[in-house]
Amino acid sequence: MPKSYIKRILDARIYDVAIETPLEPMRQLSYRFGNRILLKREDLQPVFSFKIRGAYNKLLKLAPEQRARGVICASAGNHAQGLALGAQQLGVRATIVMPSTTPAIKVNAVRMRGAEVVLHGDTFDEAAARARELVEERGLVFIHPYDDPDVIAGQGTVAMELLRQHPGNLDAVFIPVGGGGLAAGMAAYIKYVRPEIKVFAVEPEDAACLKLAMDEGNRDGRLPQVGLFADGVAVAQIGEETYRVLRETIDGVLTVTTDEICAAIKDIFEDTRSIAEPAGAVGLAGLKKYAEQQGEQNLTLATVCSGANTNFDRLRYISERTEIGEKREAVLAVTIPEQPGSYLQFCRDLGDRSITEFNYRFAGGAGRFAGGAGRSGNSGEAHIFVGMQVATDTDRAQLVAQLQDKGYQVADLTDNEMAKLHIRHLVGGRAPGINDEVVYRFEFPERPGALRKFLEQLAGRWNITLFHYRNHGAAYGRVLVGLAVAEDERPALKALLDQLQYPFWEETDNPAYRLFLSQCE
Ligand SMILES: Cc1ncc(COP(=O)(O)O)c(C=O)c1O
Repeated sequence: MPKSYIKRILDARIYDVAIETPLEPMRQLSYRFGNRILLKREDLQPVFSFKIRGAYNKLLKLAPEQRARGVICASAGNHAQGLALGAQQLGVRATIVMPSTTPAIKVNAVRMRGAEVVLHGDTFDEAAARARELVEERGLVFIHPYDDPDVIAGQGTVAMELLRQHPGNLDAVFIPVGGGGLAAGMAAYIKYVRPEIKVFAVEPEDAACLKLAMDEGNRDGRLPQVGLFADGVAVAQIGEETYRVLRETIDGVLTVTTDEICAAIKDIFEDTRSIAEPAGAVGLAGLKKYAEQQGEQNLTLATVCSGANTNFDRLRYISERTEIGEKREAVLAVTIPEQPGSYLQFCRDLGDRSITEFNYRFAGGAGRFAGGAGRSGNSGEAHIFVGMQVATDTDRAQLVAQLQDKGYQVADLTDNEMAKLHIRHLVGGRAPGINDEVVYRFEFPERPGALRKFLEQLAGRWNITLFHYRNHGAAYGRVLVGLAVAEDERPALKALLDQLQYPFWEETDNPAYRLFLSQCE
């Protein structure tokens, strides 16, 4: 069966609009894994994804009469841009139906290519239904994003180039899957030309429609819900033709988490200085997972960076989740005794590890606060939400064990979605029983030990009632600290803070503090 595709792929004449993209070694990642890792740079296509290949090949295969009628698709993503550019090149009228909720940047990108945009419905399914109606009403030709042999063949040219660019030994290729067009075209070609190369399909674990079909042995099932983070591959049901090809050609399906995709985006950035969109990094996330599982050295592994149409405002989320995806950040809830000196003691017990996050709020009770030393009183417990840099999963387990050995209760929240998305922002609130709280905002230099130095300076005198720090990648850590300081001691505090030489601002009268944290309002 792959044979019928080989002819189509060899025959695909896409280079009027598409480019032959480079296959680049990922030097840093290869070094880290002890394997040779190659990246096919489809993000460098004129529409920043491989989708132009399939769309253009399909347009070329249309009969002149069909081209004259004009083409239509429903897509808010890369297929829309590919089809719009291809149609513009060939002078074919293109209509693209998008949900009304589509960001203006994507609507404009398609309009810029001369296509007519029809905004309809709130969801992709509603837009797709409208596209089908328009096929009837206007006699347009529907161009499917993946489930069409000419589209699949166009995408298959990625593999043709890859094998030509790398004729040497290749152990495995990893291909992202949405509806399966790219994977079907590439797998068909690779298995025909170089059957010894393993081919793996990769999907986000919350959009794994091919895995569902492979597990069940048919494609009747639909995912009840589809994760939208990697929007380019958010598909509920694998294509019919693509499934027919894939089940005969691939060696397996790997699934990856959102955090692993974020980590792969960072890897691509570090090796190429380009920012892949989430779907564009899915293949690499799968490759890394495979390499970790195999634990072998000196393999040659290739994948496709399939697209780079990222929304700029998504970058913050991506960078936030990257450290966790790389398993380089542990997120822990640690219980410490709410008694004088225990906060400083805890910081000392952390040793020299880089702290990425530190959130604490005095929780009340009859005892003293956790920050200071020298006062008596001993009651209750305080919970600290703390993030720390670790090297690997094993290192994280060791860190947890070390803290437990020192007597701390530790809950590992690294894989806890709710904690990472919400709770980290909600640690705080009003602390009962504090009437003499002052609040300062600081800029700490981002270097290990800065927090400890700060606590050591204050430790003997005042109690810490609030601490909020999250590393945002700036040169300075921004820290909000609350202290319980009697009125007559405030000049002494001020003098001590001046000595510390960290820039600071008093925020006790800030309305945001008064409204949400202070007892005094
Ligand atoms: C960037 C990117 N990667 C991968 C895919 C998956 O392609 P397919 O639907 O052919 O499996 C898409 C589909 O739109 C995409 O935009």
